[in-house]
Amino acid sequence: MTGKLSARDLLTIGDVARRTGAAVSAIRFYEEKGLIEPVRTRGNQRRFLRSDIRRLSFILIAQRLGLSLEEIALIMKGLPHGRTPTARDWRRISTTIRARVEDQIAELERTRDRLDGCIGCGCLSLDKCAIYNPDDRLGESGPGPRQIVAPKA
Ligand code: FES
Repeated sequence: MTGKLSARDLLTIGDVARRTGAAVSAIRFYEEKGLIEPVRTRGNQRRFLRSDIRRLSFILIAQRLGLSLEEIALIMKGLPHGRTPTARDWRRISTTIRARVEDQIAELERTRDRLDGCIGCGCLSLDKCAIYNPDDRLGESGPGPRQIVAPKA
């Protein structure tokens, strides 16, 4: 186990799953992606710090807000390694998330404002539909069919 930590400071993956509501398989997945880093006991069992509950909660909330795992990983690089993040650390991180959420809100508001012209129309015209092809973005990528729904990470 790590230096100053006692067994009481460390949680099993089951403890973390119960505290966060995340599935054990999801916690392992986040570990594989490097988003959380449990310590290992002398017997090579995975143990989590109490602060990992907050890290995991952050990941779950950020995913719910629509952030990709890559975005979350990038943001979490701003958290300290090897110590419990302070309130100040979390405030700094939340500022980044806030900016991202505000961008999302602005995009949704633009979509809502364009919606009025589309309700009852249904043409989905590449030339004139501001919902289907806002600012003719599809046209910028070249001629022919350009609409691909990318799988989420
Ligand atoms: S559906 Fe016709 S303009 Fe959008």
